[in-house]
Amino acid sequence: MTVRFGGLAALSMVNFEVKRDEVCAIIGPNGAGKSTFFNCLTGVLKPTSGRILFNGEDITALPSNAISRKGIARSYQITNVMPNATALENVRIAAQSRRHGWNMISHHSAFPDINEKAEAALQLVGLLEKADQLAANLSHGEQRNLEIGIALATEPTLLCLDEPTAGMSAAETHDTVQLIRRIANNLTILIVEHDMQVVMELCHRITVLHYGEILADGTPEEIRRNPKVQEVYLKT
Ligand SMILES: Nc1ncnc2c1ncn2[C@@H]1O[C@H](COP(=O)(O)OP(=O)(O)OP(=O)(O)O)[C@@H](O)[C@H]1O
Ligand SMILES: [Mg+2]
Repeated sequence: MTVRFGGLAALSMVNFEVKRDEVCAIIGPNGAGKSTFFNCLTGVLKPTSGRILFNGEDITALPSNAISRKGIARSYQITNVMPNATALENVRIAAQSRRHGWNMISHHSAFPDINEKAEAALQLVGLLEKADQLAANLSHGEQRNLEIGIALATEPTLLCLDEPTAGMSAAETHDTVQLIRRIANNLTILIVEHDMQVVMELCHRITVLHYGEILADGTPEEIRRNPKVQEVYLKT
């Protein structure tokens, strides 16, 4: 696909494939087009040209709520939780959106299965003990993990994480890597990440974007050794 903003090609004839159950990273310098790529996958943005197929189905023209119901979820580069709702409410609304649409009026006790799903999602991201705390009162790292919980509550089969460890301490980053490992069972994961250690530890395959084009694609080891990648990206 190609995405143009006026004269700028944020993505230029990008051809990318992810296989079921793979954990893949998309890396590249600032402005390479990584978030734009996620925006297209999740229907936030429509590509200027090209197609997006999910399980063989063309989803290019679908709105984001329909794409969510097909099983694609994402977390945002900048934390995107509802600060004045509790951790549980944040994930419950997402769990509900999958089944019943965004019906904010229905009382939550009407959907016991949804509460169970929401609690399960919180447990997966290690926040069940903080279920009743306002999202605003969680630490930055906890809010980022809550956002992963929100994405999981929609029961995705493809999870797109945009810089999940951004702004985290080393200890929080370590915990989030463990978290992503845990959820990677039965889930296809695409991850945009600047922390090379995180990427090398987690991913089967790495795609390098550079000025909207794919510069390289391979295993972590192949990417580490690729001279073009070293020149534009890994060189410090
Ligand atoms: N809505 C928009 N309107 C105009 N230009 C945009 C828009 N969104 C992104 N861009 C431009 O497209 C290019 C790619 O941006 P994108 O956010 O996808 O990069 P990125 O790889 O995610 O960068 P970063 O590592 O900084 O998050 C940049 O030059 C950016 O300024
Ligand atoms: Mg980005």
